[in-house]
Amino acid sequence: MTTPRPETLAKLTPVLTKRWLSPDAWRIGTYEKLDGYAALRKALRAHPDDLIQLIKDSGLRGRGGAGFPTGLKWGFIPQGDGKPHYLVVNADEGEPGTCKDLPLMTHDPHSLVEGVIIASYAIRANRAYIYIRGEAVHAARRLRNAVQEAYARGYLGKNVLGSGFDLDLVVHSGAGAYICGEETALLDSLEGFRGQPRLRPPFPATHGLYASPTVVNNVGTIASVPYIVLGGADWWKSMGTEKSSGPMIYSLSGRVANPGQYECSMGVTLRELLELAGGMQPGHTLKFWTPGGSSTPLLTAEHLDVPLDFESVAAAGSILGTTATQIFSDQDCPVYATYRWLEFYHHESCGKCTPCREGNYWMVRVYRRILAGQGTHEDLDTLLDTCDNILGRSFCGLGDGATSSVTSSLTYFKQDYLDYIEGRTAPKLSDKQLVGA
Ligand code: NAI
Ligand code: SF4
Repeated sequence: MTTPRPETLAKLTPVLTKRWLSPDAWRIGTYEKLDGYAALRKALRAHPDDLIQLIKDSGLRGRGGAGFPTGLKWGFIPQGDGKPHYLVVNADEGEPGTCKDLPLMTHDPHSLVEGVIIASYAIRANRAYIYIRGEAVHAARRLRNAVQEAYARGYLGKNVLGSGFDLDLVVHSGAGAYICGEETALLDSLEGFRGQPRLRPPFPATHGLYASPTVVNNVGTIASVPYIVLGGADWWKSMGTEKSSGPMIYSLSGRVANPGQYECSMGVTLRELLELAGGMQPGHTLKFWTPGGSSTPLLTAEHLDVPLDFESVAAAGSILGTTATQIFSDQDCPVYATYRWLEFYHHESCGKCTPCREGNYWMVRVYRRILAGQGTHEDLDTLLDTCDNILGRSFCGLGDGATSSVTSSLTYFKQDYLDYIEGRTAPKLSDKQLVGA
């Protein structure tokens, strides 16, 4: 295990994670002693439009994966339209490898609740929801407790802290479907329907929950808001890069000595993150990795020095996504890893559109054939052709995301596929596992 050098340790910028190691930070008393709800008091003295401008000035971009500018999104909410406005927090963290929102809600749920109140005040919403994935029972329990505590202290409910602003906040647990992390499927599910994506546009900003203007933001995005209110836009922009500002929680998993969450200024490299995490596990050499979960194209050891910000990762041919860096070594097989991800997408496909529903079904079957030692050279063309028919032709991002590891593993690791097809690698699946996709 390697020890990080002081200059690499300096890359750590604990902002959203700063309370995680404080015992009981999830209780309101401890949270308040650690600056908690100070940002709310400050925000309630400001005009809502000034808060939207502050978030615009900070350059905060969505932490759910797409990186859409948060202040711009808030600014889309029509004002004076006579309709109710809603804030919905997307806490349905389900992207394979992604683990930043669940620890945040478990260790520091009040930072999210405080962010919700400030954001709702800014967009003039009197009702907010946190939609949390069904499996996250403990985090949901902590959140519900935090919401109750916030009501008891007058931070939620009628006339928040005597400001005249009313807000109700509901924590809603989903039923464990990955597609409900897609914002419009989430809204359908929240309304009581089967969670399936809606056509966009119109975007939720104008036609969201109950067809009313709705901001849907990720947990990390909303939890950033109190820090920006207290620290100011310039302080936030002093971290990160010009177009990707602020700190970001990078989750490291896989063949790394100390997996976990590392919060650094955006633009840190994987080489630096690996150093912070004690290096690769003994006996393992980096072979491939995801910069932002399984929906993002794979990168390789060649990309160790790519700054992990939205622009640089895109220039390297991938997507920053959820900053879930899953690390694989020379002892891992990119063909098998891609197959396991495809099984996931095939299982989670909601079935609404043909390219994703049928394409993933077929690709799983082709992978099984290859991994059982029965693949052909034509199978590789079939995979690329199928991806071509899914990417950009699917109804939502799930279909597009499923193709990422297929096309990128074929770009970088075609030889690994050929080794199965030409009999140099022993089959990983038996004949019995060929059927049943
Ligand atoms: P998107 O780029 O289509 O939209 C991003 C956000 O901006 C949405 O809230 C959308 O409503 C808003 N928006 C975009 N254009 C707009 C406009 N013209 N007017 C008003 N609002 C507008 O991205 P999408 O499909 O919402 O999310 C894809 C990302 O989600 C992927 O990059 C992936 O990394 C990430 N993802 C995250 C998961 C997680 O567990 N956190 C799970 C799966 C995917
Ligand atoms: Fe459903 Fe997949 Fe189509 Fe998205 S791409 S609507 S998940 S079938």
